[in-house]
Amino acid sequence: MNTTIQHVEPILGTLNSTVTLPGSKSLTNRALIVAALAEGTSVLTGVGLSDDTEAMLGALAALGVRTEVSGTTVTVHGRGATLAVPTVEVDANQSGTSARFLLPMLALAGSGTLTGHEQMRARPMGDLCDALRGLGAVVDGDRLPISVAGGVTGRAVSIGADVSSQFVSALLLAAPVFPDGLDLTLVGTPVSQPYIDMTISVMEAFGANVDAAPDRITVAAGGYRATNHAIEPDASTATYPLAAAAIVGGRVTVAGLGARSVQGDAEFAKRVLEPMGATVFVDEDSIEVRGSGLLDPLTVDLGDMSDTAPTFAALAAKASGTSAVTGIGFIRATKESDRVQASVDELNRLSVDATVDADGFTVIGADHVPAAVETYEDHRMAMGLALIGLTRAPVDVIDPGCVAKTFPGFWDMVAELRSEAQASPLVLAIDGPAGSGKSTVAKLISERLRLPHLDTGAMYRAVTYAVLTAGVTLDDHEAVRLAAENAEIIVGPSRVLIDGEDVTTAIREPEVTAAVSTVAANPGVRVVLAESQREWARRRGGAVLEGRDIGTAVFPDATLKIYLNASVEERARRRALETGDDDIEAMKAKIAERDHQDMTRETDPLTVADDATVIDSTSLTIEGVVDAIADAWISAEGR
Ligand code: DC
Repeated sequence: MNTTIQHVEPILGTLNSTVTLPGSKSLTNRALIVAALAEGTSVLTGVGLSDDTEAMLGALAALGVRTEVSGTTVTVHGRGATLAVPTVEVDANQSGTSARFLLPMLALAGSGTLTGHEQMRARPMGDLCDALRGLGAVVDGDRLPISVAGGVTGRAVSIGADVSSQFVSALLLAAPVFPDGLDLTLVGTPVSQPYIDMTISVMEAFGANVDAAPDRITVAAGGYRATNHAIEPDASTATYPLAAAAIVGGRVTVAGLGARSVQGDAEFAKRVLEPMGATVFVDEDSIEVRGSGLLDPLTVDLGDMSDTAPTFAALAAKASGTSAVTGIGFIRATKESDRVQASVDELNRLSVDATVDADGFTVIGADHVPAAVETYEDHRMAMGLALIGLTRAPVDVIDPGCVAKTFPGFWDMVAELRSEAQASPLVLAIDGPAGSGKSTVAKLISERLRLPHLDTGAMYRAVTYAVLTAGVTLDDHEAVRLAAENAEIIVGPSRVLIDGEDVTTAIREPEVTAAVSTVAANPGVRVVLAESQREWARRRGGAVLEGRDIGTAVFPDATLKIYLNASVEERARRRALETGDDDIEAMKAKIAERDHQDMTRETDPLTVADDATVIDSTSLTIEGVVDAIADAWISAEGR
């Protein structure tokens, strides 16, 4: 056993990365089989090369299928139904999909022996052997090594679908080349149904004719058509960087994987990360997760995305309460390791309370202690456990090389997330005087950037309202500061509450507007509100904040600082339109007075930060301003 160790240190900062992941191992191995069985030459692009695909390529060579690998492109010279009888044992190594998918291929070749790595020899194959026997093949053995003599002659057979969907997929993939196709009855509720759907989607891409009902799938004979086929990035692999965004905080985007995906695990972000508190955007061709580092506990059935169980274990360890996964009892015998027991044992080793359940495991989220964790020669255990070390305390991952099974670049990706992390959360600071268009622009840009928006002026107004209503004298600085400190202020997208009272309209009344600059000049009030604004943004993994001192005092290291300005005349005209008060001269005077107060107060006056981008909106449209900020953001964010 390899005893090297990968030390994983917490990332102190906010993630901000777009990652490109290797092609799906599941799709790659399916496409390799189908292309090998097609008549003619197929080109597969975006292929995920890993130990598992290497095993498949080696096995195909033994079956007389020529392949050429160039970068992530594999050219496959398919042989249709005329596979060569292998002269050596065909080795699936540690690859479950290869072992399962290759067994019917040996039946197609007519004879041969399939073997594999010790770990693979322990994994079940029996149901698949029985099904092939039912189709007329002569199969010797129920675990690797297995010998096949004599091919498929029949058409109809039934198979237990509740052990591994790979058995079903294996039969389906070979079926168009069986003499009469296949009529497959599924007994029991299929586990991992999305994987069966994925198999069918690849078959159809190569021209197969499949008719699928929940308990019966028929495949017409007629072979496959060679074609050029792009492999999607691996959705199971995508769970690691996406979960990292939720755990560490910040943004991670996975490119090339989105709403169009045929992989069930592509739903992990929506089904697991979102209910745990992260913000998830699934676009056509990308998935983006924004997290705060704070996770809510979750109980979830992962029966149809069971490969994500180790990722879930890491998330559950970080959550603020008790989480549980159900529906995955079947993985205990079919995967590289017993991931239920292994997850529980390794979490316990990190001092996180976890227990094995009948159909999954339960975890009580807690701060873990640094420790070295075993990985059981299981790539997913290694990648899942590594996530735990990304916050709070380091984790040493034993035998880190096992990730090569599906994602040789995993540790490089972790290093990249770390090097691209930023010191502070993603913050767009928009400062400027009253009437410069901050609120309108901030709302629109927050939708464009998918960051929540906070109007900090509303907080000063809410405190002012509270102070005025309580009859506190504005000169009594300590009483005003205390009012700010004790108030519970909630500034939502459309409402403002103070101590539960809806003050959305009240804070815009002239009395509040007249007094707010005095309250805002109170240094004690500023300390209290600035800290709550920082906390607000941190908890949301970033924000657009508008105010007077965001770029100078609240977030001096904001990702981007905008100072939005406009002439006094223009600002007075806008306010007049808004309020219906058409005395422009009086409005100008009021605005100028408030500018003067905000710009000349001692504590955190309104000034242009040295590194702010100044935009004068006097003669610009709102869209023009929003576009200019969006452009500046893209380069500031480093995408
Ligand atoms: O943006 P507004 O007009 O709603 O802001 C009301 C007052 O609050 C403004 O006159 C100055 C003060 N303010 C501040 O001092 N610092 C902020 N970050 C936001 C507003």
